[in-house]
Amino acid sequence: MDRTGAGGVLGVESVGAVRLLTLNRPDKLNAMDTALVEALVAALRAADADTSVGAIVVTGSGRAFCAGADMSEFRDLPPEERHRVEHRSQLTASLQLLLPGLARPVIAATRGHVLGGGCALALACDLVVAAESSRFGYPEVRRGILAASVTPNLARQVGTKAAFELLATGRSIEPARALELGMVNRVVPDGTEVDVALSLAAELAALPAPALHATKRLFYRSLDADFEHAFALAQEAHASLRKADRAASEPSIAEERP
Ligand code: COA
Repeated sequence: MDRTGAGGVLGVESVGAVRLLTLNRPDKLNAMDTALVEALVAALRAADADTSVGAIVVTGSGRAFCAGADMSEFRDLPPEERHRVEHRSQLTASLQLLLPGLARPVIAATRGHVLGGGCALALACDLVVAAESSRFGYPEVRRGILAASVTPNLARQVGTKAAFELLATGRSIEPARALELGMVNRVVPDGTEVDVALSLAAELAALPAPALHATKRLFYRSLDADFEHAFALAQEAHASLRKADRAASEPSIAEERP
């Protein structure tokens, strides 16, 4: 396995055609401060722009996936620096919007605490492989704060009753319940989650990229469209993939020359 380039608050490694991104603040349970979110956004964009990358895996180092936004970063922030809080919350929102907008599929490999913004990050990925130790939850309300940027996606993914219960009680749930709610795809023994995610990612990376990218794009566009519009989008996506296929299979002028 060729893994290169790990280091800093975010590990960035290439594993064949898969880009592995590792949140790397294990002493803080990978709590996301501004530097980490900025690095993650930049690394996701870079991976999606790299034609040698077919899929992306996001995980955390140490015993947790991510314990949410770094609370110490803003705890004693003077009122005149409120713009930093706003910048931070915009960053969180941009991460939520960025993940479904990437062409390449993104898989989260979780273990231990998957809380607040960390839970939102996992849920914004296209697929989630959860180790048995994973505990998912939104404890913000217990701390007197709002799980703001995570609410829209949670309600959309798990249904209103389950989403409200998670947000309003702040309780954590085990992987079996997360699987039942459709928050995760697989529950695996601890220590295997990254390898399972990498192997799923390699399987996706080996598929014809235009069809995979069109599938992801159509999937998220249809989610936000009304039923009738979703069919129009499907037809449009189908036609444009066929057109691209035909163009790729036609010999170029240079190839036609004797
Ligand atoms: N922001 C900043 N630092 C955090 C953090 C967060 N969200 N979550 C954990 N940490 C830090 C702790 O302060 C501690 O740092 P220290 O060793 O320098 O004191 C370190 O990570 C380990 O955490 P600790 O609390 O000692 O581990 P634990 O196993 O006893 O408890 C949790 C784990 C997740 C239950 C606990 O850390 C916690 O409740 N964290 C906050 C979770 C949260 O509310 N997230 C939503 C934020 S919006």
